[in-house]
Formats: sequence, C-alpha cells, structure tokens
Amino acid sequence: MKKILLSFLLVALFQHMYAQHSIIPAPVNYESTDAVFALDNSVSLNIATGDQQVQRHAELFQSFLKNNGIDVAVQTKKTEKTIIVSLLKKENPTLGSEGYTLSVDEKTITISANKAAGIFNGFQTLQQLVPTELETAARINIGGCEIIDYPRFGWRGLMMDVSRHFFSVDEVKAYIDKMAEYKFNVFHWHLTDDEGWRIEIKSLPKLTEVGAWRVERNGRFGENRPYPKEGEKATYGGFYTQEQIKDIVKYASERNVTIVPEIDFPGHSMAVLAAYPELSTKKEAKFVNPGSKFAEWPGNGTFKMLIENTLNPADEKVYEFVDKVFTEVAQLFPGQYIHMGGDECYHGYWDEDPAVQKFMKKNKIKDSHELQSYFVKRVEKIVSSKGKKMIGWDEILEGGLADGAAVMSWRGMKGGIEAAKMEHEVVMTPTTFAYLDYTQGDKSVENAIYASLSLEKSYSFEPIPDEVDPKYILGGQGNLWTEVIPNLPYAFYMTYPRAFALTETFWSPKEKKNWDSFINRTETHFSKFDAANTSISKAVLEPIISIYKEGDKLMCALKNNAQNTDIYYTIDNTYPVQFGQKYTAPFEIPAGDLSLRTQTFRSNKPLGRALLIHRTELEKRVKK
Ligand code: ACM
Repeated sequence: MKKILLSFLLVALFQHMYAQHSIIPAPVNYESTDAVFALDNSVSLNIATGDQQVQRHAELFQSFLKNNGIDVAVQTKKTEKTIIVSLLKKENPTLGSEGYTLSVDEKTITISANKAAGIFNGFQTLQQLVPTELETAARINIGGCEIIDYPRFGWRGLMMDVSRHFFSVDEVKAYIDKMAEYKFNVFHWHLTDDEGWRIEIKSLPKLTEVGAWRVERNGRFGENRPYPKEGEKATYGGFYTQEQIKDIVKYASERNVTIVPEIDFPGHSMAVLAAYPELSTKKEAKFVNPGSKFAEWPGNGTFKMLIENTLNPADEKVYEFVDKVFTEVAQLFPGQYIHMGGDECYHGYWDEDPAVQKFMKKNKIKDSHELQSYFVKRVEKIVSSKGKKMIGWDEILEGGLADGAAVMSWRGMKGGIEAAKMEHEVVMTPTTFAYLDYTQGDKSVENAIYASLSLEKSYSFEPIPDEVDPKYILGGQGNLWTEVIPNLPYAFYMTYPRAFALTETFWSPKEKKNWDSFINRTETHFSKFDAANTSISKAVLEPIISIYKEGDKLMCALKNNAQNTDIYYTIDNTYPVQFGQKYTAPFEIPAGDLSLRTQTFRSNKPLGRALLIHRTELEKRVKK
C-alpha cells in the first residue's frame, strides 16, 4: 500500500513539475497557481525602465499580441490589469545576464531581469504561455504561474549555411525570429564556401562579382550535377551587401541574438579562387562549384580534392587578402567572435608545390599539418588585431592550436575535450547530436543524406564531458548544412523539432531534462507551428522499424517514442492499416513480393506519415 501511495505521490509530483506547461526550453523553476490572467485590449504594458533594448523587446511583444488580435497600449500608469516590465535595481546574481522572473496572477503579469536580454527571454516564455487554440481570439487566458529561469550555457547556437543554398535577407530574418523564440542566442552564419561567397567585401569586389554566382543546377549535389559548360553563364546565387548585413545584425540584436560570421579558410575556398585564382598554388582559373562532385572520400576519414580549393599558405599575398577580408568583417559584426572555418582542408596541392615546400623548409615547418597550423596562427593574429576572438572547427587543433583560439568541436567531442584540457574555450557541436542536415525519420520517407539523427538522440546530448573543466565549455550549437536544403520551409522542417532538443540541452538544468515531458511539450509546439502554417518534422511520431534475423526468419520490431499511441501494420500489400493488425510484439516478415506498411495512431487518428517498405529493402537493413 505504501508503495502504491509513493508511486501516486511521485506521479503527482511529476505532473506538478512538468505537465502544467509546454515551455521549450523547460524553465529552471515553474510553479503553477490557480490564477488566470485574462489578456485583452484593456490590459496595458507598463515599461518601468528607459532602456532602449527593453523598449524594443516590448514593441516586439506588442506586435505578437496584435497578430493574435489583442491591442495593448504602452503606458506608465497602472491600469486595472497590467503587464509590468522592469530591470532590477539590485542585481539578482542567480539570473545572470539572460535570466528573468515571470509572475502571472489575476491582475498583473510581471517580468523582471537584470538586463534587457532577460526581459526578452521573459517575453518569449510569456508568448509560449498563450494557448495555441486561443491565439486568434480577442481574449487570451494565461494560467497563473511563478517562473524563475536562466540559461545553463551562454552559447546556444544555430548555424545556417547560406553558401550551398542562398537564403534572402527576409529568409535569414525569419530563421533568426524562430531561433530567438526558443532562446537561442548565437546565429553562426556560414557565409562562404566552395559553392558561393555571400558577403560584400568592398576592397575585394570580385569576391561577390564572381564568387557569389554559379551556374544553375538542380537536384542532388554530386555526380549528377555537371561542371559548368564552356561559356555557360553563372546565374544562381547572391550575396548580402554591407547595408543588408548591418540591418540583419541589428535585427538579430533586437532579438538577443549575436551573429558569429564564418569565413571558411584555407579550405572550402573554391569561390574565392574563382575570383582570385592567384591565391592558390596552381593559380589556375576556377569556377564556383555548382554542387558538382569534386572530392573523393574513400571512407577511411581521408579525402582528396580533385580541384584545388585551398589558399596558398606560403604566399604573403594570401595574408594581405585575409587581412582585408577580416578588417571589413570585424567592422560589420559587433560580436566578440569571428569564425575562420579551418575544416576539411586538403593538403595535396601544398605537398606537390615546390614553392610551398621551399617555404616550409625555410620556416622549419615539418609537415602539412604544421603548415595549416602556421596559417591558422597567422589568421588568429589578424583576427585578434581587429579586436576579435577567433574560433574555428576542430581541425585547427592539428599541428598545434593558436593561442587564444576557441574550438568548435564537430567530429565528435574529442577535439573539444582536447582543447578544453589545453584551457581553450569550446563550443560543442558534434555530428552525433547536432547535425541538422541529417535525416530525422525512416529513410524510406526522407530526403536522403549520408547519415541520420533522431530527435531522441539529439535530446540525449550532454555538452560537458566528464573529464573537462566545465568552465571551458561555452555551450553548444546545431548546424544546418544546406546541400540538400534548397528552401526555407525545408530549413525549418530540418531544424525543428531537433532544435527544441538542443535548446533544452543548452538552456535547461541537466537534471531537469526528461524525455516524456519533452515529447509532450514538443507535441504542443507541433500545434503552434501548424497554426503558423509552418511544417516541421513529425518523424518522431512515426514507427521506428528494427529488422533482424531469428534463425532464417526475417523479423520486425516496431516502436515509437511518443505516448498513448498505437502502431498498426500490414505485411500483405493491403490496406487499410488502421484497425488492421495492431502491433504488440515482433513478427515475422514472410518471404515473398510484399511490403511492410505501417503507421502510428492516437485515438484512431493517424500521426505522422505512413511508411511503406518492400521486403527487399527491409532485408538490406539487417545488421551483418
Ligand atoms: C564541417 O561539418 N565540415 C564543419
């Protein structure tokens, strides 16, 4: 009896802790009360500070309400029902620079913080308290609560690659809008790559006249995208003017988002070399890559670039070029960090070039790793001479890490661990948890890429490895590479809901993370995205198929990670799936020309997509 009582109490406690809100990322402390605040046109917004950023954040909140049919006036006197926003006179050290308290009672909503960033985050939480189904009503009932909230990490990033696909200013802003709603605060802007240079550099005009444009190709990157034909016009692409960049920087800052620009050197530089071929060893004319295959990856971690896409580290002119680029980049972006790339740099052209070899001998550089390190250290000096801190992908560790450089660990956590042990700052963004271009669901229904990453796996990300001093881990980031992401709706589809998992990892206390609570809250946010006509991936609701052999039998197990669902299936090419065979235990897939057809249901309504996979495909899934 005692045990039953205890479980009952635990369930009640769990429900009290989690079931009462759908906030993502989960706040540090949330207590619900019985109060209800009726938000309607009679409510006023009282901004008890002259802080310009707070004023701007309040205006954004006003527009949010207006879009939901509610007009609140900003005024200084207290009305019967008021939303009071104030900066704390005496700092609350617990809240730090981005934390806030939010209290909702019958007559008053109060948001307080040490800094404007905290107020912004408080507004985002308040927006999430608006029930989805009432978002267009003339009155919104907000459930009473007391929230104390602050982030676990200071770097909560999303990276967007605008080189493989060019996103317009409005599209970039839309991406920033969404990330800010979920309390991400770093937008890592991957501005340059082999497939296009996207930032105006006034002292180097050919970077955008030539480097921003490629011949138009559609479909998958790789073998099926032919190289440019003789005389073919480069018509696909674009770039951001410096005025547009300033506008986006300001737009982001009004949403508590700092932009980290990435200029990827010395590899990934085919677009640079299309404009200025003299910066390579061969000095041969190049083109901006239209997504054609130009590298070989034998699968043992090595690679070979069939076209030179690296800057020549032995040429002083290259450093003059890099200096010009970073002079203008540093002036455009007020944030502390500049990302210099450094990843996947092929050294073959350096190894073959007599002038490079002579340079190495003269400078006592023993191999190409040290040569890359020499380059990175020179770049670090250039970046720090502009008053900025340099960050790079974990390859910048190879051959010796530059003093003061921060490391973005992407090939697992290893590079980050090594850098943190050397007392360098680290941002954790491993492929295994944080690569948003990887597919989310069953491969039979996804736009193929070379790897997959489920929502559950993203949610299990822990950015601080046991063996390092946590103070070196600035935080983490999700990366959206866009080889297979040619438009904004698909960028959202690929980013969310995994970005929910990441933001909760980067914001919420580690001990607060709870999958059951998270998946329930995620489902509420599916409705919010549906209401905004934005389609994000619901693959997490679909069956997860495991195929294995039991003797000669081909066996199939099905599950999913959402609650209160049933999975139905057929294995005889027939419909209907629903009310057919309900999955209860692993079953045999008999031999024959047949397919597995399966889907998840809740209360007899389908969730997610129906999956249809032929037996021959299923057979290929058996682990050897
Ligand atoms: C990377 O994914 N090449 C950083």
